[in-house]
Amino acid sequence: EFSKGVNGLDKVILREVRGSSVEIYLYGGHVTSWKNEHGEELLFLSSKAIFKPPKAIRGGIPICFPQFAAHGSLEQHGFARNRFWSVDPDPPPFPINSSDNAYVDLMLKPSEEDMKIWPHSFEFRLRVTLGPGGDLMLTSRIRNTNPDGKPFSFTFAYHTYFSVSDISEVRVEGLETLDYLDNLSNKERFTEQGDAITFETEVDKIYLSTPTKIAILDHERKRTFVLRKDGLPDAVVWNPWDKKAKAMTDFGDDEYKHMLCVEAAAIEKPITLKPGEEWKGRQELSAVPSSYCSGQ
Ligand code: BG6
Repeated sequence: EFSKGVNGLDKVILREVRGSSVEIYLYGGHVTSWKNEHGEELLFLSSKAIFKPPKAIRGGIPICFPQFAAHGSLEQHGFARNRFWSVDPDPPPFPINSSDNAYVDLMLKPSEEDMKIWPHSFEFRLRVTLGPGGDLMLTSRIRNTNPDGKPFSFTFAYHTYFSVSDISEVRVEGLETLDYLDNLSNKERFTEQGDAITFETEVDKIYLSTPTKIAILDHERKRTFVLRKDGLPDAVVWNPWDKKAKAMTDFGDDEYKHMLCVEAAAIEKPITLKPGEEWKGRQELSAVPSSYCSGQ
């Protein structure tokens, strides 16, 4: 289903019979909404988000490509998140269960202007799938279409903003005891100590060689997000906290309390593709009621 979003921007809406839904803006190839069967929003989207190039939409799931953050000479997080993608009207068939899944394929190919800042020809196909249980799957296929035999390398992230009731009641499981690079201290390498990760201050870390499953437990809302990933060894955890929140024009001063970014990524070891080669990176999100509750 095609529709017009903020500022008349084109968006695609996927719906599933039990009532869950997903909204994807062609601007950025950007998922801005994911609702469960009760109509509850599961992703954070800032009330101050700016839906206008060159600003990327603040919230949802921005795609960071071909560069994560400032790990290279391109603009922060690369350019895929502030380009207009197109819809593939005739996508290849889904391998299994095609009748049960609602999906759309978005495509990004570089413009001449893009080739001036990143001199490579590529085809990026992003498949957004809403499963029968309301699970949200994102599959990226990136192909090197350079005609001249040149390989290219890139870093990548699904920059997912999860909606949480109160950041101080949230914990993340699956990253304890792992090594990480701390963006707040010159990308120095540390090892996480102790139990599940909790939040009481700004955090901006790149966890390395992470497991394929990470859980985000929202104690207050009794909801657990489960993130499963494939082809994406790293995981970024980011919350700007109060000071950085105030410094961002497209983010409310108190909104940091209600969001957490956990980003499936490939950063430490960039992906290299020879001409004709394709890379695939997948993330699957589910939101389940959790019985976790202290004292029970
Ligand atoms: C995170 C980075 O992924 O994105 C942070 O680790 C950065 O360093 C954050 O501040 C937001 O980036 P931006 O460009 O969307 O403001």
